[in-house]
Amino acid sequence: MYTTETPQDAAKYAVGRAAVERYAHDGARLGLGSGTTSAWFVRALGEKVADGLDVVGVPTSTATRDLALSVGITLVDLNDLDRPLDVTLDGPDEVDHDGDMIKGGGACLLWERMVAEASSKMVCIADDTKLVEQLGSFPLPIEVIPFGWKATRRSISALLTDLGYSDIEIVQRHRDGQPVVTDSGNFILDAHMVAITDKALLDTNLNWIAGVVENGLFTGIAHEILMASPDGAAKLIE
Ligand code: 5RP
Repeated sequence: MYTTETPQDAAKYAVGRAAVERYAHDGARLGLGSGTTSAWFVRALGEKVADGLDVVGVPTSTATRDLALSVGITLVDLNDLDRPLDVTLDGPDEVDHDGDMIKGGGACLLWERMVAEASSKMVCIADDTKLVEQLGSFPLPIEVIPFGWKATRRSISALLTDLGYSDIEIVQRHRDGQPVVTDSGNFILDAHMVAITDKALLDTNLNWIAGVVENGLFTGIAHEILMASPDGAAKLIE
């Protein structure tokens, strides 16, 4: 067992352990999400692997790859799969009661969506601070090709205006004064929109824009939400 330092980490570890109990049976082939919630799931999975559980994982980021290897989880390449993964477990930045999510706060949205779509099932693992009535308070991450990214940003802005959004701001993400570069070598734009009213339409239309690689509005992807409550017990929203 790990020691956690904050109630939120305790909740993330609790939901990670619950996810392992529910989905990580012997022989399971798992997609391993990214971010702090998923990291607690990966650590919890590593504890079971140390006890003899036989699973393989596909990581959704280089960070998750490194963590999974450090806790002894056997990894496979997505290209080497001949059939879908059993289930991917991944955390959201926001999730609503339909199971639709904003993802990409950690800039891993492209691999996260690819691995989720290469899975028979996607389970959203979250602490209860992530549950919202309406998506959009969290800025929507959009992964774009560096070539001509400012033109891509103009196209995104025009789409959002056409769809009726006003007062939007689309900001290139930086860290330590440098543009964030994803595991696939792309940039991240964060669209500050306040409230998203037409999730599926926006998700589809963003990905039609030339230069957009993927967007963080994951609609119709999660099959279940596994959520930690303040007392640390995980419950399932289906
Ligand atoms: C990374 C992600 C993360 O899964 C998301 O940001 C949630 O992270 P955390 O569990 O740390 O809140 O989408 O791209």
